[in-house]
Amino acid sequence: MSYDAVLSRSFSRHDQKKLGWAAFFGVMVTALFFCVMFKPFLSPLPVLNLSLSAGVNLKSVLSTEEVAITQSLATKIKEARPICDYSQRGSDVCEMDGDVRIHGNSSTIFVASFDSDIVARNTTSWHIRPYARKEDQTALKHIRKFTVRTTMLSEEDLPRCTHNHSVPAIVFSVGGYAGNHFHDFSDVLIPLYLASREFNGDVQFLIANHDSSWTHKHKEILEKLSRHEIINIDKEDGVHCFPRMVVGLKRHKELSIDPSRSKYSMKDFRQFLRSSYSLNRETATKIRDGEGKGRPRLLIITRKRSRCFSNEDEIANMARSLGFEVVATEAKANLSQFSRIVNSCDVMMGVHGAGLTNIVFLPENGILIQVVPLGGMEWLAKTYFGEPARDTNIRYLEYKINESESSLIQEFPLHHEVFRDPYGIQRKGWGEFKSIYLDRQNVKLDVGRFQQTLLKALQLLRD
Ligand SMILES: *[C@@H]1O[C@H](CO)[C@@H](O)[C@H](O)[C@H]1NC(C)=O
Ligand SMILES: *[C@@H]1O[C@H](CO)[C@@H](O)[C@H](O)[C@H]1NC(C)=O
Ligand SMILES: *[C@@H]1O[C@H](CO)[C@@H](O)[C@H](O)[C@H]1NC(C)=O
Ligand SMILES: *[C@@H]1O[C@H](CO)[C@@H](O)[C@H](O)[C@H]1NC(C)=O
Ligand SMILES: *[C@@H]1O[C@H](CO)[C@@H](O)[C@H](O)[C@H]1NC(C)=O
Repeated sequence: MSYDAVLSRSFSRHDQKKLGWAAFFGVMVTALFFCVMFKPFLSPLPVLNLSLSAGVNLKSVLSTEEVAITQSLATKIKEARPICDYSQRGSDVCEMDGDVRIHGNSSTIFVASFDSDIVARNTTSWHIRPYARKEDQTALKHIRKFTVRTTMLSEEDLPRCTHNHSVPAIVFSVGGYAGNHFHDFSDVLIPLYLASREFNGDVQFLIANHDSSWTHKHKEILEKLSRHEIINIDKEDGVHCFPRMVVGLKRHKELSIDPSRSKYSMKDFRQFLRSSYSLNRETATKIRDGEGKGRPRLLIITRKRSRCFSNEDEIANMARSLGFEVVATEAKANLSQFSRIVNSCDVMMGVHGAGLTNIVFLPENGILIQVVPLGGMEWLAKTYFGEPARDTNIRYLEYKINESESSLIQEFPLHHEVFRDPYGIQRKGWGEFKSIYLDRQNVKLDVGRFQQTLLKALQLLRD
C-alpha cells in the first residue's frame, strides 16, 4: 500500500476550484432535472394520495376494506420506491426497500414496483457510481456505474434470485483513490462505518472495483462491521436478492463525521477502531509534576522517498532531552501492528502526508504536530488533518518550516518563484506543484525553533 501517494490528487480540486463549482453546479442542475422528470414518481402515487386525502367523496364510494387495501398498497409502493439522492455534497446515495435484486456482471439493480404506469414509461432508471467523492471526475472515472431499474412486481419481469439474503446490502466501490491511506479512511471506511454500524454486523457488503489487497488491509474493520463474507460484485453472475439496499456511501467532510448528520461521532468511530484492533489505551498520559511515572511517548512518522526528515536523529535526541520516549518509524500497511504503535504514543508528529491519517488510532486527548512544508499548503494542512484532528478530540499543533529548513534551498535561489510565489506555481497545475513541493522537498527541522512546539505539547499533556 502506498503511503507516499498523497492527498495530492484531492488537491487538484482545490487547485481547480472553479471547475469544482462548475461540476457542483452541474450536479445541482442534474438533481433539479431529476426532480422535475420524476416528480410524479417521487411523490408516491399522486392520484391515490390525492383521492385519499380528499377523503369524504372517495370514502363514500369505497368500502372501509377497500380504503384499507388502497392505503396498504400506497404504503407498499412507497416502500418499494428507490430513492436516489443526488443533492448532497460529496456523494450520491440510493436507498431502496422491498424486493431488491442485483446482477453484478451487468451492474444492474432491479427494484420491484406495483406501479405499471411507471414501468411502462420505462423512464425509471437511475445511475450511480458508489464512491464518496462525486465532485472529483478523476476519482470517479473508473468507478463502476450501476443502473437502478424499477420493474413490475411479477416474477417474469424480474431476474430469478439465485441467492436470497435476509439482511440489508450496502454497495460501495474501493476504486478511485482508495489504496491511499487517507482516502481509505476519508472516502470509504468512515462513510462505511456511518452506513453500516447500526446493523450490528447483520449487513452484507457488496464491493465494486474489488481489490483483495484492499479488503485484506482493512479486514479487521470490515469484519467488525459485517459478519457476512464480502461479495465481489464486479463479476458476480448470480442474482442476489435483498429486502433492503443502499448504494453509495455518504461522506460528510474530510476524514471526519458531522455529528449533526449522524447519530455517530468521531469519538464513536475511534472507540470502534479501538475495539476492532484491540487497542487498550483510551486516553493519553497525563503528566503530573513530581510523579515520574510513565514518560510521554512521541511518535515521529518518517518517510522514505519524499518529505522526509533529514535530521531525524537530531530531532529524536532533542525530544528525549525534553523527557519524551521516542519512537521513529514509517507508517506501515499492516494496521493491526501499526495501530498498536500509534495507540501506545501520546504525541504524533510528521510532515504533511497520508501517514498522518493514523491520528485515528491515537488515544483521546493525544496531540498531532503537523510539519507543513513550503508550497502554500496551509489550506491542505488544515482541511485534511488540522480540522479532522480537532473533530477527533486530538489536540493540534502546526509547525511551518521556513526556507532554510527546506531542501529546496539547495536547488533554487531564495528569490526564485518557488519561494516567492508558491500560489503562482499551484496555478500552473497539479503536476507542477506536486513535482516541486511534494516529491522533491525534504525537511531539516531547526531543532532550536521546533523545541518550542514540543514544549507546547508537553504543556498540553499537563493541562
Ligand atoms: C459478463 O458480462 C460480459 C458482457 O458485459 C460477458 O461478456 C461475460 O460473459 C459475462 N460474464 C459472466 C460470468 O456472465
Ligand atoms: C424497458 O427497457 C428494457 C431495457 O432497456 C426493455 O427490455 C423493455 O422492453 C422496456 N419496457 C418497455 C415497456 O418499454
Ligand atoms: C429465493 O426466494 C424465492 C421466493 O421466496 C424463491 O422462489 C427462490 O427459489 C429462492 N431462491 C433460492 C436460490 O433459494
Ligand atoms: C499483520 O501482521 C500480523 C502478524 O503480526 C498478521 O497476523 C496479520 O494477518 C497482518 N495483517 C495484515 C492485514 O496483513
Ligand atoms: C528561518 O528561521 C531561522 C530561525 O529558525 C532564521 O535564522 C533564518 O534566518 C530563517 N530563514 C529565512 C530564509 O527566513
